[in-house]
Formats: sequence, structure tokens, C-alpha cells
Amino acid sequence: MITVQPYPLPSSGDGLELGKPRAITYLRVSVTDRCNLRCGYCMPEDQSFFPRDALLSYDEIAEVARVLVARGVRKIRLTGGEPLLRRDLPTLVTKLKALPDAPEVVMTTNGMLLGEHARALREAGLDRLNVSLDTLRAERFRQLARRDGLQRTLDGLAAAKNVGFERTKLNTVVMGGVNDDEIADLLAYSLAQGFEQRFIEFMPMKSNDYGVAAQRIPLDEIRRRIETVGKLVPRARGSGPADTFTLESTGQRVGIIAAISLPFCETCNRVRMTAEGVLRSCLFEGGEVAIRDRIRAGDLERVVDEALEFVRRVKPPVHEGMGHVDMNRVGG
Ligand code: GTP
Ligand code: 5AD
Ligand code: SF4
Repeated sequence: MITVQPYPLPSSGDGLELGKPRAITYLRVSVTDRCNLRCGYCMPEDQSFFPRDALLSYDEIAEVARVLVARGVRKIRLTGGEPLLRRDLPTLVTKLKALPDAPEVVMTTNGMLLGEHARALREAGLDRLNVSLDTLRAERFRQLARRDGLQRTLDGLAAAKNVGFERTKLNTVVMGGVNDDEIADLLAYSLAQGFEQRFIEFMPMKSNDYGVAAQRIPLDEIRRRIETVGKLVPRARGSGPADTFTLESTGQRVGIIAAISLPFCETCNRVRMTAEGVLRSCLFEGGEVAIRDRIRAGDLERVVDEALEFVRRVKPPVHEGMGHVDMNRVGG
């Protein structure tokens, strides 16, 4: 693991295994590490959270984003924890959409609060949604997420559709003996609703005890299971982690995200920012820079530029197969 905290910038003499510096065009911003669910693959029941006054304000997030957009970022994804727990999130969306060059602004959410907020998010200009949905069975949802919530999530998805969100993607983490018997049901649900279904390989992280309690279903097996429903016809690979296919029997679009079986680090164009203002090069590997106090001390543009250069340089050529962070802090 590369863990360098924080400056000076590494040079080739620092003993770091440096990836090729590359263009960064995608920023994932975690706006809170809190969540209204406790999915076992993401965080333990007794997780502690940042105090609220440690978080970057919406103005600070937008200022950092302004610099990163000026340096080439085209897409900003809001994540959590659960981003909709942060008060008045549409205000942040409005600020980000108002930046010069109007980046795409999208969000990954568990969907529970979309019933209340979908319309305001749409009006603020949010472009699209990815929504986590691991099961269509209420009791199973309660076990997986350690909270009730299936109906609220389904209602949230319906609300998002009603207010005009299109091309919504569903994220399903496939876990052996937990929800791997629901692939056909989830495909049928997303077809009926017009969502793009994605199946995600379980990623071992510190926050799930490196997967000791979960059975990871590898890429080939996920594919085989989907192909019991219909043949998968590959589509052109986009820049994201998902490999996309057309399911021949229904014509629907299906994605598979398999960061462990088939790392996509070589083409990774992403950086992440945590809610307390740490810029991070990678979901798995270390290499992060705390910028909150530095930007508060002044000269935000220089601080962000130096941090960007740092995280670009420590981006790994390939990850080591597990993450040593809390998923809810880094935002997936
Ligand atoms: P788009 O491509 O913009 O639709 O988003 P996405 O699929 O990358 O984001 P989303 O938040 O929906 O995440 C889907 C899954 O991909 C989650 O399991 C994330 O943890 C994982 N993921 C997203 N980005 C990366 C990445 O850069 N590296 C790895 N290893 N996993 C990622
Ligand atoms: N493995 C794979 N995907 C995960 N997510 C959270 N934790 C894991 C993990 N350990 C996914 C969630 C959410 C997205 C942000 O990350 O399902 O959709
Ligand atoms: Fe990018 Fe790290 Fe994910 Fe690899 S593991 S794709 S470098 S974020």
C-alpha cells in the first residue's frame, strides 16, 4: 500500500511505485460519511462518523471543484455515505452546475430519500442517478442493510422516474448465498422500470473485514449467471469501471463491474474527495492529501493544484485487490 501523508510531492527517488500520470476528468465527492443504512459490505454497525463541523461547506466544495474543472474535470459524482443525509443537497448541485464549463453532475445514492428530494434535485440540474439495490425482498433487505427500507427505496426510484430522471442505473453487489439467486428478478425489475442493471463484484475493504464473512462471486460466475437469462452481447467499453452489454433476449443494457477480477486502473481518470476535505488518488490504495485546513488558510488554487499533482502521480498502475479504508468515507 502506498500511504504518503501529505506533502512533499513524490519524485521517482521516493521508492513509490508510481503509475503513469494521467488526465483526471472525473471527481467523486463524498458529501457525508453518514448513512441511514448499514450494508455489511460498506460499514460496521457501530461505525463512528466525522463531527459535522469537520466537513467542507458547500461553498468550499464548489471552490475546489471550480479549480479541478478548470484543470480538466468534466464529471462530478456526489457520493456518501448517503449523500441525501446532507441538508439541502440541491443547493450544492446548483453551485456545481453553475461552474464555468457546466460539468456533468450525477449522484450515487441508496434511494431511500429520493421520494422527498428527487424533484428539487432535478430542478437544481442533477443530470443522472445511480441507485444501490441489492435485493427485491424486504426481509433480505433488512438483513443486508441492517435496517428496513426496501419499500422506501422502490418508492424513491419511482419518484426519480416521475420527475424525469432518465438512464438511472441500479447497483447490485452480488454476494454468494446472500442475493446471488436474484439476478433474473433484478433484470426483470430493471427492464420493466427502464433502468440499467449493473452487477458488481464484492470488493474486500477494511470496512467489511476484507470480506471474511462474504462470498465473492467472481466475474466469470456473474457472467454465467446472467447468461442463464440471455446471451450478453458486448457494447463499446466506456471510460468507467463497468463493462456494458446488451442482454440479447430482452434488449436491455446490463453492466458488470469487476474491479477485483479485471482491474481497470490503467484507464482510471478519477480522483476522490472525502467530506472532511481529503483528496485521494484511488479507492483502494493510499495516497491522499488533507486540503481542508490549507484551503482555509488561503491560496485555495495553489493548494488544490499541488494536491492534484500529488494524487495524479501516486495513482497506482494497478491496485492490490483490497482497500484499507472505510468505504463510507471514500464513497465507493
Ligand atoms: P459512472 O461510471 O459514472 O456511472 O459511475 P460508477 O459506476 O463508476 O459509480 P458508482 O458510484 O455507481 O459505483 C459503482 C461501483 O463501482 C461501486 O462498487 C464503486 O465502488 C465502484 N467504483 C466506482 N469507481 C471506481 C474506481 O475508480 N475503482 C474501483 N475499483 N471501483 C470503482
Ligand atoms: N464492494 C462492491 N461495491 C461496493 N459498494 C459499497 N461497498 C462495496 C463493496 N465492498 C457500492 C455500493 C454503492 C456504491 C457507491 O458502492 O453498492 O452502489
Ligand atoms: Fe482507479 Fe484505484 Fe479504482 Fe484502480 S482501484 S480503478 S486506480 S480508483
